[in-house]
Amino acid sequence: MSEKYVSLRNLTLSYGKTVAVPNLNLDVVEGELIALLGPSGCGKTTTMRAIAGLLTPTSGTIVIDGRDVTRVAANKRGIGLVFQSYALFPHLSAFENVAFGLRLQKMPETEIRQRTEAGIATVGLAGFEKRKPAEMSGGQQQRLALARSLVMEPKVLLLDEPLSNLDARLRLEMRTELQRVQKKTGVTMVFVTHDQSEALALADRIVLMKDGKIEQLGTPHQLYAEPATAFAAEFMGFENIFRVQGENLVSDFGQLPLGFKATSPMLAWRPSGVQVGQGPLSGRVSASSFAGGHREYVIDTALGQIKADAPIETLEVPLGENIAFDLPKSNARQLSA
Ligand SMILES: Nc1ncnc2c1ncn2[C@@H]1O[C@H](COP(=O)(O)OP(=O)(O)O)[C@@H](O)[C@H]1O
Ligand SMILES: [Mg+2]
Repeated sequence: MSEKYVSLRNLTLSYGKTVAVPNLNLDVVEGELIALLGPSGCGKTTTMRAIAGLLTPTSGTIVIDGRDVTRVAANKRGIGLVFQSYALFPHLSAFENVAFGLRLQKMPETEIRQRTEAGIATVGLAGFEKRKPAEMSGGQQQRLALARSLVMEPKVLLLDEPLSNLDARLRLEMRTELQRVQKKTGVTMVFVTHDQSEALALADRIVLMKDGKIEQLGTPHQLYAEPATAFAAEFMGFENIFRVQGENLVSDFGQLPLGFKATSPMLAWRPSGVQVGQGPLSGRVSASSFAGGHREYVIDTALGQIKADAPIETLEVPLGENIAFDLPKSNARQLSA
């Protein structure tokens, strides 16, 4: 198993004079599902297009399975693509949609049948072979698009926000489905999303991107538990992020005393890490909502708003009243600026 199955070396990607991705270095391990995660415009699609061969790099190299493909045409790279819009052929049956690429390769008919049937079964669509795409649900169409790519046996499958057109429930269902198909086929997948929960749920590793650069790379657990920067922390649900100055936490609004010595320039707490109901600090409840297992408070403080999740058993503090809280050291995440 190659640790550098896909290797991006000093890759710079531009549109005219605008550099979208400066000097990217990334190794994708053979057989892994790696997610490129980041806000809109951070360079995820641009990076995918370069790997696919749809965008020529300004500089740098792309190696796939030991072969430098930087100057190799898109259709000679062994790459499969699945995008948000499935681009299925509306007049062809599910079977013929999946068989299409194999027919182009002039493969013998028996092999086309075998591969197509196996591909359709892999994505759980056995029995739907004769349907037209319009006779299938959004989720089924997306699975069909997946099968169509898989039967080509690509070295790498690139998926660019493939689930973003699906409704919430289907999106969750397809997450599990994708993971299952990936483990079953062992195909190396590069998956693009701007949804951190999707990346956390699906990926073996996450590449968090900002302004065309890698902000942090790690396992979902590493990114979730140990975001290194304020940007990463914000993306991973730390909603209370403040600067440290001496003995105080400071924001653009004001400051609050910090109950302990901090060694990092910034500190962050998840809403669930803020202790409510008791503590040395206090603020005014400006919003309060029931969220099943907990209550979500927004507390107006000298630092601005603090978001805090209180266990549902704790006594509810009415809107407009003062609430005691603490930003405990044990739940603080230290961040570099
Ligand atoms: N065809 C294009 N021409 C010029 N600039 C582009 C083009 N496509 C993308 N960009 C710019 O490149 C940057 C990265 O875009 P993109 O890779 O599409 O981001 P993402 O997929 O992460 O949302 C953005 O600043 C975007 O405006
Ligand atoms: Mg994009």
